[in-house]
Amino acid sequence: MGGAGVGLRLPHLADVAAARPAAAWFEIHAENFLANPHASDLLVQIGESYPLSVHTVGVSIGSADGIDHHHLACIRELIDRIDPVLVSGHLAWSTHEGVYLNDLLPLPYTEEALEVLARHLGEVQDGLGRPYLIENPSSYVELTDSTMDEPQFLCALVERTGCRLLCDVSNIYLSGHNLGFDPHAYIDRMPADAVGELHLGGFTPEEDASDAGVGVLIDTHAGRISEPVWELYARAVRRFGAKPTLIEWDNDIPPLATILAEAARADRVAADALAAKVRHGVAG
Ligand SMILES: [Fe+2]
Repeated sequence: MGGAGVGLRLPHLADVAAARPAAAWFEIHAENFLANPHASDLLVQIGESYPLSVHTVGVSIGSADGIDHHHLACIRELIDRIDPVLVSGHLAWSTHEGVYLNDLLPLPYTEEALEVLARHLGEVQDGLGRPYLIENPSSYVELTDSTMDEPQFLCALVERTGCRLLCDVSNIYLSGHNLGFDPHAYIDRMPADAVGELHLGGFTPEEDASDAGVGVLIDTHAGRISEPVWELYARAVRRFGAKPTLIEWDNDIPPLATILAEAARADRVAADALAAKVRHGVAG
């Protein structure tokens, strides 16, 4: 897709449609457009000039209640209009008994959850008529019912379903900090051939009175990418190769030029990582 893309949020929509700034591609959140015909029309126009990717936040693929097929049909209508290059959603659940919870909630990494996900993934891909990439979540707790860790679970999901993954590098760093694992080792254990997209986003440190001053990182998408995440991104590019990479910035949204500057840095980091791999045979 010719370089890193950026998340296209509603405050920038009209400007992008009118001014067509230099950007490699855009990713949108489908749910922002489902009840907004004016925004959808602008998006169709934008799609004539840029590759688009669709990220869903309300499909709730991990919900034990099953998939909301009406919601899926609404997303299908949108993606049939804009023909995105990629469609994705989180390894999470966000609905219960018909109620939409405004959060992406964690799953236990068990055989039972794997079965539910595999079934739902088939329904979602059939409903949307295209592959649906699964994104690793940002985590704050570990569920004691889990029998696998997250990389093991993702490997098992890929093996069972053949699905592709969206690797959110920032989520790995943040979860590693919050849960106490090594994010570089996590990257090394991902099923590399399945990774079809990368995400980078800013996070916000918060004090946590219950810990010893280590604090917790919150996945706010409200700032620049941190230096250790750029290092982790370089490792991801060395391991997975050059993949479509997205800068996510959803809160305290700056001028688009600021987000595009982060995308340009992603391009430089990726190029340097690949060049280093060629020069030195660096593997990880
Ligand atoms: Fe993400």
